[in-house]
Amino acid sequence: MTFDVHRVRAVYPALSDGYAYLDGAAGTQVPAAVIEAIADAYRSGLGNVGGTFPASGRSGSLVAECRQALADLTGRSPDGVILGPNMTTLTYRLADTLSRRWEPGDEVVVSRLDHDANIRPWVQAAARRGAVVRWAEVDISTTELPSAQYRELVSERTRLVAVTAASNVVGTRPDVAAIAAAAHAVGALVYVDGVHATPHVPVDAGALGADFYATSAYKWSGPHIGTVVAEPALLETLHPDKLAPAPESGPGRFERGTAAFADLAGVTAAVEHLASLDPTATGSRRQRVLASMAAVEEYETRLFARLIDGLDAMEHVTRYGRAARRAPTAFFTVTGHSPRQIAEHLASRRVNVWNGDNYAWELAGVLGLRDSGGAVRAGLVHYNDEADVDRLLAAVGELA
Ligand SMILES: Cc1ncc(COP(=O)(O)O)c(C=O)c1O
Repeated sequence: MTFDVHRVRAVYPALSDGYAYLDGAAGTQVPAAVIEAIADAYRSGLGNVGGTFPASGRSGSLVAECRQALADLTGRSPDGVILGPNMTTLTYRLADTLSRRWEPGDEVVVSRLDHDANIRPWVQAAARRGAVVRWAEVDISTTELPSAQYRELVSERTRLVAVTAASNVVGTRPDVAAIAAAAHAVGALVYVDGVHATPHVPVDAGALGADFYATSAYKWSGPHIGTVVAEPALLETLHPDKLAPAPESGPGRFERGTAAFADLAGVTAAVEHLASLDPTATGSRRQRVLASMAAVEEYETRLFARLIDGLDAMEHVTRYGRAARRAPTAFFTVTGHSPRQIAEHLASRRVNVWNGDNYAWELAGVLGLRDSGGAVRAGLVHYNDEADVDRLLAAVGELA
């Protein structure tokens, strides 16, 4: 299938402002259908859930539809979909809940590749429980996270392994299935940060071996809503703090207070949008999502080659990120300019990028970038095109 990026771009109102949006890794723009779904939810009248009147029923339907959409996106059951404001909040909540079972001397494994949201909640929970933190290291020359090290890192005391499905700066996609197999061999649970991977590849949380898979809709054309999906039976074994009248079972126990009902309509519309990206795909929404995300991966990989080939041809650019499997995210510095100055220059050329460590705080330390302002991150998503990439390359070229 030929990926029709012009058709895709046309459904994003924000892209008409003429900027090259290469900041998708920090949050994407949203298609008109998502904006309309949110507006329609409010227009139709909403109430809190569980009441006797139609507006209450509509909110209940929005919650159920959203859980089903996220199940279709991740390959899990809707009964295992926990909804919340963002990944960080939900991860802290699960770290609090899961760590209640940890004893002094138990172990957790985190990685230096991860965004801090999949490190610090576990490190802090471990400190509270007297548990030991073990670190999976990144090979700096390749920016790979070698999975073989996990066989040494896990032990009978390991309770949890937290690992990312893709680095939000260098893009590395570790072999999560192999890491999960090592964790499961010793009976540990696996918490996968899917925030950066989900916009770029087909996701099957079960095949990854993710007991928990976290993602945030605002990274894949939806509103600012996060989710963690798990097997319903696993969730039933956990007992988060909750209000007395709140549900006794199901994912609702992990969801505090009243949900952002209209935004949930936007999440469902965003999954529909992803499912539509391969217009030739047929079958269930799950099947269409898988086909569409495979098309997205192929398109982005091709466009990314143009981006990194262009950067690598410039002597004044140092690029980080050499992994064999990676998301289309470039992380680079330019000789003689701070990352902030580069980002300012690019903004003056109507190119949106991020500068800094982007919360990949441990990795920035390992790469020796933490104290020098990090690097510049230019990330592709499926609505970016060759003109975006060429504008970036031209503007970076001016800094020679
Ligand atoms: C890989 C990764 N993990 C976690 C997060 C945190 O997500 P949230 O903003 O939903 O808390 C981000 C956000 O940038 C991210 O890129």
